Order: sequence, then C-alpha cells, then structure tokens
Amino acid sequence: MEYFVDIHCHILPRVDDGAKDEQETLDMLRTAWDDGTRLMVATPHWNRERGYTKSRREIAVAYKKAQRLAQSIHPKFRIYSGQEVAYDSSVPEAAARGEFLFLGNSRYLLVEFSPVDGFSRIENGLTQLRMQGIKPVLAHIERYDCFRKEPELAERIASLGVPIQINAASLSGEHGKDYGSCSKAVLLGGCASLVGSDAHDLKNRAPLMRDCAVHIANRYSESAAELLFRNNALRILKNLPVEPVSV
Ligand SMILES: [Fe+2]
Repeated sequence: MEYFVDIHCHILPRVDDGAKDEQETLDMLRTAWDDGTRLMVATPHWNRERGYTKSRREIAVAYKKAQRLAQSIHPKFRIYSGQEVAYDSSVPEAAARGEFLFLGNSRYLLVEFSPVDGFSRIENGLTQLRMQGIKPVLAHIERYDCFRKEPELAERIASLGVPIQINAASLSGEHGKDYGSCSKAVLLGGCASLVGSDAHDLKNRAPLMRDCAVHIANRYSESAAELLFRNNALRILKNLPVEPVSV
C-alpha cells in the first residue's frame, strides 16, 4: 500500500489524554509519517463524564498548531479536524446544532460509548444520531463488552448504515486475545469499514498502521487493506458512503 489515512487519533497538544505538549505532537506526527500515514484526522475526546468539554475554538488553536508541525515534517502531510464524542442523551441535539467537529467537512461524526454500555443503548444512541441527520461512525467496536461477547451483533450496527472502526493494535492482537478475536470476527463478518490507530502517545498507543495493514493485505487481500486503511476514510472525508469490506 502506498499510504494510510488515520481516521482516529489523539495528536492535538493539551486538549485531552493524548499528546501532552507540542513536542509529543511532533514526535507522534513524525512516527506516523515514517510509518506511511499521509493524512490524519485529529479526533480529541469530547466526554462530559471525563471532563473533556473544550470548546471548538480551543480545539481549533491546537489543531492549527498540529497542522503547522505536520507541515514542518513534510508539505504533503495533511491534518484534518474531528472529534471523538462520547455519547450521552444530550449529544444528538448538540451534534445537530453543530457543536461538535465532524470528520473533515463531512456529516460523519466519530462516536464512542462506555465499554460497559449494553447493545440496546449503543444501537439506540446511533439511531438517535441518524434521526438528527448525523452520520455516526462507531469508534473501536472491540472495546465494548457486548460486542466482545457477541461479535455478530456488529451486523445490526452495520445494517443501520453506521460505519464500524477497529483499532489497528486490537486487530494485531497487541491489546490481548479478547480484543483481537472480536476485531477479527467483525472483520470476517464483513462488518468492519475502517481501521484507525486511536494513538494517544508513542509508548503504549502509538500512531502505527503499517504492520497491521501489511498483515491484512497478506492474510486476506490488498483491496481489503486499501479500503480499511485508506479508501473508506477518504470516502468519509468526502461525505460518501463507505464501501463494504469483504475478506
Ligand atoms: Fe480515541
């Protein structure tokens, strides 16, 4: 694969539990660039319970800094804005009012739930968002207990028209057997649309995609890897429907 697009990462300095300062942002960007990523969508947390409620304006300042740092690495390195919004009952209307940063300039919004939320809460939340004209993308499906217990429930999310994202390190098995087997089951069921790094730092959750992409290309197909690690992310940024990934 020529290059990757990372739709989920916490590279902005000092806005959440991702990069702690500009130096760490720069180091993460350099690692991602060297690994083959050419476009990153910065998705800092919005999570009322955890106290991540920075305004769009504050995020915009950090976003501009990250863009400048990316440009210092290479003029072709692109950073787009976004947010990872933790669902609560206020989110659908707030999203419809435009209070969150969508992925690029699309109508897609990266949404996460609590790991212990039940399936019906996740399904209802995504449905509520869609009723408000928002296109949710479900972040890291393998991190929710309900899908690890019953990965086939992913089919019901996919049938809502919601793209499903998996973390690269989970798919590679680096986050343990349970996360690995759930990720694989969702992929084999034809329900995964995207892989992102969900990078937070360089040590534990680094912005790396290549090893996982190469593995998927070798084990399944180059075309599946291209959709998961690049083309579906590009489609989302253009507000187009994702393409199904069959392996
Ligand atoms: Fe995240």
